[in-house]
Amino acid sequence: MTDIIDGNAVAAEIRAGLADGIDTLADAGVTPCLATVLMSNDPASETYVSMKHSDCEEVGIEARDFEIDPEAPAEELYDTIDELNADPSVHGILVQMPVPDHVDEREVLRRIDPAKDVDGFHPENVGRLVAGHPRFKPCTPHGIQKLLAATDVETEGADVAVVGRSNIVGKPMANLLIQKSELGNATVTVCHSRTENLADKTRAADIVVAAVGIPEFITGEMLSEGVTVIDVGINRVDADTEKGYELVGDVEYESAKAKAGAITPVPGGVGPMTRAMLLWNTVKAAGDAEA
Ligand code: GUN
Repeated sequence: MTDIIDGNAVAAEIRAGLADGIDTLADAGVTPCLATVLMSNDPASETYVSMKHSDCEEVGIEARDFEIDPEAPAEELYDTIDELNADPSVHGILVQMPVPDHVDEREVLRRIDPAKDVDGFHPENVGRLVAGHPRFKPCTPHGIQKLLAATDVETEGADVAVVGRSNIVGKPMANLLIQKSELGNATVTVCHSRTENLADKTRAADIVVAAVGIPEFITGEMLSEGVTVIDVGINRVDADTEKGYELVGDVEYESAKAKAGAITPVPGGVGPMTRAMLLWNTVKAAGDAEA
């Protein structure tokens, strides 16, 4: 029987586990506060930001919402970041990506105070992660580590194929998994669009993390029996549904499930964990600021 990994259930446990930290801060008169900044009219980005706000409300984190016209000059976004950096009541800052083309994404990431960088994308925080002493672990890979732990999937000594090399998922995932730590100590192969003989790499893996952004790219015949499959993809594909689309992962679910020992569904796998770890990082940021 394949274990269907329930991201919603594990995320609920993570949220419940944050209550102690939030109570301790409340005793000191502090409410953790996350500021989100959206400079986009993309409906998916709008949905993600609004979900992050309702998650915050649920656990007792204050969420402040900043929206900037996507046509506005980049300086408007930079100035907003500067103001949020200077505001001691704001502990975490999240600029929803992608930003418009006329905005320099790297400048945005550099500009956020690294102590408030709850995404973990600031170069200083990337450096700390690679050097093995992370401040904020990026939410999706951190959530995947927690999901593996909750499913009793051992990373120590495991062969992992990470398919995808993005700064948000693939690279930090590989870095976290190779670290000398309880949720690390794995041997990682990072694959991407130019990888030759990809199926040989995925078939050799005990754990496959699919984060390529291509619908149903990883199929069952690319996997070994008993593998753990973590599907990071959320792709909208045209479908004969009420909305005219459906969400599919980077993994062809049915054929992969037939091979896998454990697999994450889409939706309801990695997505809720990413959101839970953002709350985790915001509570950490507030705690660090008050320490
Ligand atoms: N857009 C897609 N994923 C993310 C994320 O993890 N953080 C931010 N800030 N934007 C995103």
